[in-house]
Amino acid sequence: MLKYLVERSRSHREFKAEADIPHELMEEWILNASHCPAAMNLQALKYKIITDRDQVAELLPLTRWAASLDKKLPPEGHGPSAFIVMCHDTSIAPLKPIFMIDVGICAQTIMLSAAEADLGGCIIGSASSEVLRSKLSLPDCLEPVLVLGLGVPEDKVVLTVADSGNTKYYRDAENIHYVPKRPLEEIIIK
Ligand SMILES: Cc1cc2nc3c(=O)[nH]c(=O)nc-3n(C[C@H](O)[C@H](O)[C@H](O)COP(=O)(O)O)c2cc1C
Repeated sequence: MLKYLVERSRSHREFKAEADIPHELMEEWILNASHCPAAMNLQALKYKIITDRDQVAELLPLTRWAASLDKKLPPEGHGPSAFIVMCHDTSIAPLKPIFMIDVGICAQTIMLSAAEADLGGCIIGSASSEVLRSKLSLPDCLEPVLVLGLGVPEDKVVLTVADSGNTKYYRDAENIHYVPKRPLEEIIIK
């Protein structure tokens, strides 16, 4: 059921070591994303799949995970098994704000696809697109817009109800990661 899939699809930042995700499986997730609504149906998103361990290790330092926690994440040796770098192709359309909505729709579709396969990860917006482009030797027309770090999740992430508007995520002494979400009565406009 979608309700449970959405609930299960949390941001994970610790992963099982040495657990590969087959390239073809990620292609299936991207196929799902390619069937999503797209502004003007231009479909300017392109996807770079990175599964090579050395390349994943090279990209990891370019990403920042849970910057608001006082903890190095992912922990050493428990990084993601793969990255998908989502790029906007400016040869199809200039990168206008409307296309960032496509990015969100497609990113969540991929994350839900991963959750359905009992995999998961984290959407990473903190990587510099310039640095990514040069590290991945992408052509000028491909503008990296979002990174998805993926693997076999090892951390426990729990949804809670935000109290008094406090949405800051936190971890307890057992390293359980809590994600407060605003209650329905706070988000439905009367
Ligand atoms: C557009 C976007 C960018 C994000 N960038 C980062 C990031 O750079 N680093 C990170 O650790 N988490 C990032 N996140 C994950 C959020 O921190 C996460 O969604 C939030 O804490 C709520 O947790 P949840 O996904 O389990 O609901 C990003 C999420 C979105 C949607």
